[in-house]
Amino acid sequence: MNAKELCEKSRASMSEFKTWVALDVSNLSPGQQLAVKYFSVAVILFFAQLLFGMIAATQFIFPNFLYGWLDFSVNRMVHINAMVVWMLYGFIGCTYWLLEEESGTEIVGLKLGELAFWVLTGAVTLVVLVYLLIQTGAGKDSTLWFINEGREYIEAPRWADIGIVIVMLIFFYNVVATFSKGKWSGIAGVLTLDLVALAGMYTAGMFYMTNITHEQFWWWWVIHLWVEATWEVLVGVIMAWSLMKLLGVKRQIVTTWLYIEVALMFGSGILGLGHHYFWIGTPEYWLAIGGFFSALEPIPLVAMVVHAMYDAGSHSFKNSNHPAVAWIIAQAFGNFFGAGVWGFMHTLPQINLYTHGTQWSASHGHLAFFGAYATINIAFFYLAIQHWRGGVWMSGGTANAWRWKWALGLLNAGVLGMTIALLIAGYEQSFIERATEGSSWGGYFAAQNHPSFQSAMVWRWFFGLMTFSGLILLIWDLLTIGKDETRKVQEIIQH
Ligand code: HEM
Ligand code: HEM
Ligand SMILES: [Fe+2]
Repeated sequence: MNAKELCEKSRASMSEFKTWVALDVSNLSPGQQLAVKYFSVAVILFFAQLLFGMIAATQFIFPNFLYGWLDFSVNRMVHINAMVVWMLYGFIGCTYWLLEEESGTEIVGLKLGELAFWVLTGAVTLVVLVYLLIQTGAGKDSTLWFINEGREYIEAPRWADIGIVIVMLIFFYNVVATFSKGKWSGIAGVLTLDLVALAGMYTAGMFYMTNITHEQFWWWWVIHLWVEATWEVLVGVIMAWSLMKLLGVKRQIVTTWLYIEVALMFGSGILGLGHHYFWIGTPEYWLAIGGFFSALEPIPLVAMVVHAMYDAGSHSFKNSNHPAVAWIIAQAFGNFFGAGVWGFMHTLPQINLYTHGTQWSASHGHLAFFGAYATINIAFFYLAIQHWRGGVWMSGGTANAWRWKWALGLLNAGVLGMTIALLIAGYEQSFIERATEGSSWGGYFAAQNHPSFQSAMVWRWFFGLMTFSGLILLIWDLLTIGKDETRKVQEIIQH
């Protein structure tokens, strides 16, 4: 087949795909059209995340799997970077989704926003290709600039860092300028302040230090304050808005809750940073500060659960989008258990001494990221698809409802299963490697080779596969739900 035929064939199959999904973009406002672009890439990256997670999990069991082709460290890196980036895409999408409605006007820099989308997507593709094609080599200054910065979660090379900052500035401009042109609200104010903090934090991840303690000190500034302060606040904003839209909760109520949550979140989360400063060579006072403040971190998360349940309860779960609300409930609990409970379990220095850097951390990391951030994005995917199909009914009596229910069940049960398997492995490591063998080199291997660790890795693989099949079902459902629905949503009237 020559290039022309190939081109025609792919064009034909693209239009076939379009007919099959039957989505009409004219149902969306310009801001929403931009949002669904971000959502689409988010879903693709979510798929990539789990694909590489599966490969990494397979290598835990069969270390020779793809040996010489795909290094474990590269798979792990793609797994967690794809996660950070898809969630970022999701959050940008959520913000563009609510921006016009919340401000009451059209997005000011729509064209600029479009451009930023393509620049970011091009950059992400290039960065991943370089990760995969150049897996090993010398670590020089040019490596930092063009290949990999070697810092977990933010490995992207420096050129991409700068690109991301520019894209973020455009995003920030769009948010602020649109609210300024339209109207400000409590939600708008919190969102804007949070985006300032988010961007500021990221710049702390852009310089490099040769002293490993200094390096880790600032690296944690980015990582901890991202997930335990700025992203949590962002989720608070998105959640507040969606409770209002989906359940018709009064603005006054959600805004009051939001202020309380934000105050508690920053109050505990900023100095809670100290729980990463126990063993990296920072002064000893961090033991007390980190232990105390991070132990308070679950409080705002409890407030968030109460908030969501209270709102949902007082509106008798009346809503027109069952899957979205189900995922919002999953968020309230997932955030509370994954971040609050699982975080709290190992946050006191007396415990962290034994659990630090074991599979405990991975257990908590999986449940927290999934519970707090994957869930809310998925809720928005459902919200978006509902409008994309012209505001169809997606509640009781939806055709093929088993799909979203099974996707919800498989994804949540899969992640929970992985969390438990990793927790068992973490316990075993704490006992054998740390307590019994005194953190020795031999102790590390004794723990890695113990049958309970090894079978936990098999269970993680099994539950990983469950999670992955949940995602495939979710994607299928997102492409088809509401396709043949003729009933329209009765809009919930806002008071
Ligand atoms: C949604 C919010 C949260 C997310 C997404 C999250 C995620 C993570 C991840 C991925 C790690 C591993 C980092 C690494 O070393 O690679 C981690 C570590 C840690 N997290 Fe969280 N976390 C959250 C909230 C919390 C909260 C609220 C607490 C405490 C109450 C907490 C306590 C800890 C501690 C103590 C560690 C260090 C573990 C170690 O020593 O190895 N986290 N978190
Ligand atoms: C198909 C399902 C999945 C599989 C098989 C999988 C597998 C893995 C593996 C093998 C690692 C490396 C662990 C290590 O170095 O010891 C890892 C790390 C990680 N994964 Fe997953 N994963 C899956 C899904 C997810 C999901 C849904 C999330 C969150 C939304 C997630 C977030 C993370 C994080 C944050 C880390 C770093 C943890 C740490 O350093 O403590 N993964 N995953
Ligand atoms: Fe933290």
